[in-house]
Amino acid sequence: MNRLITFEGIDGSGKSTQISMLCSKFEENNIKFISVREPGSTTISEMIRSILLDKTNHGLGSESESLLFMAARAQITHEVIEPALNSGKFVICDRYIDSTIAYQGYGRGLDIPYLKSLNQYATRNIIPELTFILDVDKETSIDRRDPRETDRMESGGDEFIKKVINGYRTMAKENDRFRLLNGTKPPLDLFENIWMIITNTFGELHV
Ligand code: TYD
Repeated sequence: MNRLITFEGIDGSGKSTQISMLCSKFEENNIKFISVREPGSTTISEMIRSILLDKTNHGLGSESESLLFMAARAQITHEVIEPALNSGKFVICDRYIDSTIAYQGYGRGLDIPYLKSLNQYATRNIIPELTFILDVDKETSIDRRDPRETDRMESGGDEFIKKVINGYRTMAKENDRFRLLNGTKPPLDLFENIWMIITNTFGELHV
């Protein structure tokens, strides 16, 4: 069992709020952890992130996009995530391997088994122990988004978001590391649920 916990969901699903509540809870309980986001969280991965999210990069194709996400992922995994897990820390990651399956696989229509093997290659097969998928519909996502800050991935249109939402819902049924939770629930109620699942999964939380 590793201590990697990931959060997934479309833009506006409430991941950031839940992640910051989880970080506070870990801090209060003196639990050793780090919190990172994908793509990003290392100098090289942040550089790749800026290519991926730059709205002026109209010509970026789906294959290039996928490989850039993979490159950012390989870098953060080996530079940050793996060492932290090896030292016994919890790692909270805002998006990880499943974002590629949802966005590039279900969303862009690329070959899912192939993307899964690229994920294995990029991470040397590090798989989260627990993955929360915060589920919201398209309307909630759009309502919660700041239109002035739309990035390249968020400019994908309604059909794209719908495919990603359905992709996550399908994935949630395929593996029991996934917990599909209603992202429209009041944040405190949702967090109570998340905390209960974490304590049930990991039992003794101190290192
Ligand atoms: P970000 O601003 O981090 O979005 P959020 O706050 O919603 O997590 O931007 C990351 C965007 O990249 C987001 O739209 C999802 C997308 N993405 C992929 O398409 N594939 C991936 O593998 C990853 C990690 C993210």
